[in-house]
Amino acid sequence: MALKSLLVLGLLIGCIALPCAQAQLGGLGGLGGLGGLLGPLFSLLRIQGILYCTPNGNAGANATATPVFPNALVQLQCGGNVVSSATTDNSGVFSMLLDPINFLLSTLLSGCKLAVNTPLASCNATLPSLGGLVSDLQFIGSTVAGLLNIGNMGPTGFRFSAN
Ligand SMILES: *[C@@H]1O[C@H](CO)[C@@H](O)[C@H](O)[C@H]1NC(C)=O
Ligand SMILES: *[C@@H]1O[C@H](CO)[C@@H](O)[C@H](O)[C@H]1NC(C)=O
Repeated sequence: MALKSLLVLGLLIGCIALPCAQAQLGGLGGLGGLGGLLGPLFSLLRIQGILYCTPNGNAGANATATPVFPNALVQLQCGGNVVSSATTDNSGVFSMLLDPINFLLSTLLSGCKLAVNTPLASCNATLPSLGGLVSDLQFIGSTVAGLLNIGNMGPTGFRFSAN
């Protein structure tokens, strides 16, 4: 009798707990019940950085004294395809939010890069009007914002690419 009650109780808890957990995950950016099976549970991936108006797109020794590169189109390219993009603001800042259900962190780090095709000459006429900037990606860390667990990534460092 006691055993039977335990079994019934177990079933009840199982039925209640599972949909509940799935609903909570679903509310956090569409992960659904799969999220927990895909490794680190990020509800958002964010790629962020600052683009500078220099021959290699990076800041000099003193970032505050280095001019930034506004209105540049930064593309996330994976296997030669553009999968996301963002335009730098007046402070040179770009930011892309990705749904982690579509991107694995390991794939982003190994198979994707940031590419800027907006010519450097558009922020400083003495810089090249052909070619662009490219950078690999690195994982920086995670931040919790309210209910969101955000995986933060950024450029490893831009370099000039003559295309
Ligand atoms: C960096 O540049 C800013 C603006 O020109 C200046 O105020 C600051 O003193 C510089 N910092 C260093 C460490 O040189
Ligand atoms: C433009 O770029 C050149 C070459 O890097 C640099 O010497 C110059 O200071 C830059 N001008 C401005 C306004 O940033």
